[in-house]
Amino acid sequence: SKSRKYLIAGNWKMNKNASEGVELTEDIVSQLGNETSVGVVICPPFTALESVGKAINESNIQLGAQNMNPEASGAYTGEVSAEMLRSLFVTHVILGHSERRALFAEDDAFINKKVLAALANNLKPILCVGETLEEREAEKTIDIVSGQVRKGLEGVTADQAENLVIAYEPVWAIGTGKTATPEMAQEVHKAIRSVLAELVGEEKADKIRILYGGSMKPENADELLAQPDIDGGLIGGAALVARSFVGIVEAAA
Ligand code: G3P
Repeated sequence: SKSRKYLIAGNWKMNKNASEGVELTEDIVSQLGNETSVGVVICPPFTALESVGKAINESNIQLGAQNMNPEASGAYTGEVSAEMLRSLFVTHVILGHSERRALFAEDDAFINKKVLAALANNLKPILCVGETLEEREAEKTIDIVSGQVRKGLEGVTADQAENLVIAYEPVWAIGTGKTATPEMAQEVHKAIRSVLAELVGEEKADKIRILYGGSMKPENADELLAQPDIDGGLIGGAALVARSFVGIVEAAA
């Protein structure tokens, strides 16, 4: 078994209003019981953070956001700062999700600013990386993903490494029902860890959780989580169904 504690994070994307979010969270909390061997994070939309935060209050679940602006405050209409998230007891923040890269034109430099701002504000970034189908077919996967990790983490110190989480999400596996085989995922996770070792040293790199994301569900979680460098999951669709989300947590326990 691994020295790293598994982490299962639910990315609700643009789903669930505040009261629906509470309902789902209450279901998850009651089905999870006293499970503490696995780290669990729920990432609802901004508008449900406060109510979901209250609903997880007595449990071991932690609260995550799906995005953040790197600036401290000011004229950035529609944006949300690290400090605002912290004020709602948010501990994690998903950064550089492929949907933000593709639909909202976020580049590595901007994502890097967010990673640095999150760390400076005691938020744990979940930095998402992953190749498109075209890039995989051109055998560029390792290059692309390594580049995203390097650029995303520029300026991160070895001391900050323990607060980092990386999520490998092959773009072609997101919401498509297609999962990377455990071997395909492991190959990329291993490559990511060696980049991390170059950046922050092997000892620190060994402590960083690297999550897999892309059509993960209870049926395929066991096999994926059994891989030596897969330390958990970033769950989309299956995180919207309490039984499925809890099933994945149970697979990690
Ligand atoms: O961030 C999680 C994600 O993009 C995976 O989504 O629906 O394929 O589990 P899904």
